[in-house]
Amino acid sequence: MYEHDVLVIGAGLAGMRAAYTASQNGVDVAVVTKVYPVRSHSNAAQGGINAALGDRGDNWEDHAYDTVKGSDYLGDQDAIEVMCREAGDEVISMENMGVIFNRDDAGRLGVRSFGGQRQARTFFVADFTGQALLHVLHEQILRLGVRVYEEWFVLSLIMEEGACAGAVVMEMKTGNIHVIRAKAVIIAAGGLGRVFEPSTNALICTGDGMALAYQVGAPLMDMEMVQYHPTTLKSNGALLSEAARGEGAYLLNSEGQRFMERYAPNMMELASRDVVSRAEQTEINEGRGVDGCVLLDVRHLGEALIDEKLSQIRQLGIDFANADMAHEPVPIRPGMHYQMGGIKTDIDGLTNVSGLYAAGETACVSVHGGNRLGANSLLDTLVFGRRSGEHATDYVKSKKHANIDDRAADTDVSRLQAILDRDGGGELFGAVRRDLGETMNNHLAVFRDEDGMRAAFENLSDLRARFDKVVVHDKGKVFNTNLIFTLELGFMLDCAEAIILGALERNESRGAHTRTDMPDRDDDNWLKHILISRTEDGETAVDYVPVKITQWEPQIRSY
Ligand code: FUM
Repeated sequence: MYEHDVLVIGAGLAGMRAAYTASQNGVDVAVVTKVYPVRSHSNAAQGGINAALGDRGDNWEDHAYDTVKGSDYLGDQDAIEVMCREAGDEVISMENMGVIFNRDDAGRLGVRSFGGQRQARTFFVADFTGQALLHVLHEQILRLGVRVYEEWFVLSLIMEEGACAGAVVMEMKTGNIHVIRAKAVIIAAGGLGRVFEPSTNALICTGDGMALAYQVGAPLMDMEMVQYHPTTLKSNGALLSEAARGEGAYLLNSEGQRFMERYAPNMMELASRDVVSRAEQTEINEGRGVDGCVLLDVRHLGEALIDEKLSQIRQLGIDFANADMAHEPVPIRPGMHYQMGGIKTDIDGLTNVSGLYAAGETACVSVHGGNRLGANSLLDTLVFGRRSGEHATDYVKSKKHANIDDRAADTDVSRLQAILDRDGGGELFGAVRRDLGETMNNHLAVFRDEDGMRAAFENLSDLRARFDKVVVHDKGKVFNTNLIFTLELGFMLDCAEAIILGALERNESRGAHTRTDMPDRDDDNWLKHILISRTEDGETAVDYVPVKITQWEPQIRSY
């Protein structure tokens, strides 16, 4: 058995920010991650990180208002205020740690415009901001000597006397299963993008953290709110950063028209993501698309700017769409990108389960509500990663370890053995995973309706039945990815259940949850969060909590 005061699950930005903070505050903290830290999905974040810095005539209240409006008034305003107030310090501390942000002509940190915001307040490193932040934080936790269990896969959380007491973890290199005892656990395991197919997310984004928390009774909140990003490649779902539109790109339909003038005459291509994705999907559905897509046109920006600020996405277009954006428009369409919902936490990352924290995409504070603003995600990871690291530090100082030992792993050892013992001609995990992704993309995408969501729920029962018979052909212990991908699929099915249940529950349209059969927002009945949890006897339960409103009453939302 291993032992630490604080165990962080996940080594993306939220996880490493939490670990950095806890370590600096003097507690014994370790990180467990199923991939080498700099391969975490934060690495793929392109466009930037938002903060209102006073020296540009910006202020955090404006950032907060844009975020509240972007969330379609479902975001909790106390949490949004915290995030926006602390944003500037967070960006500056990352710069002080060594992130080389782009600068403007005056030598100050440069900003670009991002969607749904009335000010340019997105700080960036070309179109690979996440990678730059991630590498610097990794250097920092190495410097501090934080123990990182690299390529260890978390199987379950350990509960003892109603509190989280650690995790059961498989060392992927050997297949050995270990108990890591901890006084507090911070889940920062990222999103669930691959529950949908295609997705902009890395293949590792399988909702492990949300499912782990769900399995021990922590409620998942706002799970129906799934973001479709307006600019993804048709071929493989890869992200073409909003930075392109931030730099001035146009969206065109088959008639060469900048169609956003009909949907968002003021903000045009830089309206909120849900608004732009709906507009694109409407153009496509009404026959003004181009082979199931619309076009992203950056030619007028000139090759020099494209190469300075958008070089990565230029190359993505060349490699995967055979289109060089410097010389021709690139076909794009809305694609699954982000889960606004997640494990319900307070502003210090604490979940409803004692000793269990969550931060980053895996969590729902809720700062994004019904729709996240681009570049608020990196900010969320850092602010709430740090806050959960701080709070967990205080919590463990007065806490003793739970009375557990290696026997805490027994259930998982038997469970995995039972999977490996299955034999015969059953199917592999891959077909079930593909069908799950396609079901979700068919029925819970930009537009939804009751019949489609019910069909998805029925499909989910079939998928679960198939999953229970999935065969793992590799019976070995060393890097058994066949087994690990199968276990991930189990997490994905739990996440899908919470998404569909939440979506069926919300009888209105708000943010990314747009129902063609209930097209209006209904503040009288639905200005509240939906919580989905699993009870001890394995049933699902639905609950509600009101949205926290501090200073911005809901208004009609137009851009
Ligand atoms: O478009 C992008 O660069 C994505 C950014 C984000 O999701 O925050």
